[in-house]
Parts: sequence; structure tokens; C-alpha cells
Amino acid sequence: MANRMTAPSIRAMKAKGERIVCLTAYDAPSAEIAEIAGVDLVLVGDSVGNTVLGFSSTVPVTLDHILHHTRAVVSSISKPLVVADLPFGSYNESPAQAVRSAVALMQAGADAVKLEGDYCEEIRAIIKAGIPVMGHVGFTPQSVNVFGGHKVQGRDTGSNAVLEMAKRIEEAGAFAIVLELIPGQLANEITKALTIPTIGIGAGVDCDGEIQVWHDIIGLSSREFKHAKQFVRARELFINGIGEYVSDVRAKKFPTESNTF
Ligand code: KIV
Repeated sequence: MANRMTAPSIRAMKAKGERIVCLTAYDAPSAEIAEIAGVDLVLVGDSVGNTVLGFSSTVPVTLDHILHHTRAVVSSISKPLVVADLPFGSYNESPAQAVRSAVALMQAGADAVKLEGDYCEEIRAIIKAGIPVMGHVGFTPQSVNVFGGHKVQGRDTGSNAVLEMAKRIEEAGAFAIVLELIPGQLANEITKALTIPTIGIGAGVDCDGEIQVWHDIIGLSSREFKHAKQFVRARELFINGIGEYVSDVRAKKFPTESNTF
């Protein structure tokens, strides 16, 4: 069996100069495809709210949603590190609440958890409980209502604040950190300033690795985003394929003799 990735092995990839490839997944078949394609880290992201559950933000996503999708993801893969997102409201009250939520995600099969923003006390408490933590700075989608929309962070005067927050999160013990929607130059500075890997999304090419949302890179989203690229046009493929099924059934071309028992 292939060697399983661990939080320390992901962290060590930075020193070896190896790029870290991360992708979200929310179900068993998608996670299996990510593993076969060679992804190092699978994130059960709270982006499941936008991509699968039909919400307009990640705010309505609950711990129960992430637990459900984590169980599905871990059932089909053995090599990539599985990181589960701590959703909005599941860690923000206190270190004790953060530990309780993180423990539940680990017991559902996750290898590590991720949380958004400057929650260093919570990060320390979760690590003390034996759980690796990934940080997340820049545009943090759970705070979309504070930011007033999906806006690039760290331009001009905000840049120092993002860098300082990233340093505090490293200091608190995170094994890696997501940099979302920040200028490429700032991501470059943060990547040089930290010893833990930076994982970019909308943060340019100088991060130690990249994370993307499954639906965005396979073209399942109806929208295209500047920070993403559609490597497959799945939406078109599916509409054409399912359209063929619809017309074959109507024309009695399917099922055929070979599909019949
Ligand atoms: O939930 C998610 O998909 C994420 C990534 C955008 C990093 O947090």
C-alpha cells in the first residue's frame, strides 16, 4: 500500500522543495479520483455549502454536514492527508468548543482539521489534544459578511496584518496555512517568512502548494472564477451525456438487448 501522507510529511515537503497539491472533495468517488490522480491532501471543505448543498455562502454549513462528508471521503482513500474544515460557529466560542469539534472530526476519520483566522488559542488547544491544525488567512469565507463580499485581502495597508497573522498561526503550531485571495507579491513574502508550507488559492504561483475546489477545476460549476482553471468541461460532458440518455430512452434505443436479463 502507498505511504499515507501525514501532517509532518506535508510540512517536510517545503524543506525538500516539493510542491504540495491539494484539492477539496466531499464524497467517496471524488476523493478516490483525487487519490488516483496523485493529490497529496484532500480537504473536506466547508465549500461543500456552495458547491453541493446549494447555499450562497459557507456560513450555514454545520459540524454535522462536515462530519457526514468526512465519513464519505475517508471511506475511499488511503494515501492523501484528509483535512476536515471546522465550520462557522464550531470553534469561535472558546478553546474548549474548538477541541470538542475537532475531536468529533477526527473520530469521523479526518487526519487533521483546518480553521479560519486569528484563533491562536484555539489552535494551541486543538494541537494539545493531539490534532494537527492547518491555518487559513487572507479572504476567509466564513467572514464574508464582515468583508462585505469576496474581496482580495492584504492590498496596501492590510498586507502587514495578513503577514503578522500568518506568523502568529505558525507560532501557535499549525503545520501548514492556506493563503486565500491575496496579492501574489504578499503570498511570496509570507511564503519566505514562514517555515511551514503556504497553500495558495488565488494567491499566485509562489506558495509552497495550491488548493482548489473540486467543482471549479473540473468545470462542474456554472461560473468561472479568476483564481481557478477548468481542466475538464464536466458540466458540458454531463449535459451532453445525460441528454443522450434522455433521447435514447424516449426513442427506445436504450435499454438494448445487451442490457436485458
Ligand atoms: O472550504 C474550502 O474549500 C476551503 C478552500 C477554499 C481552502 O477552505
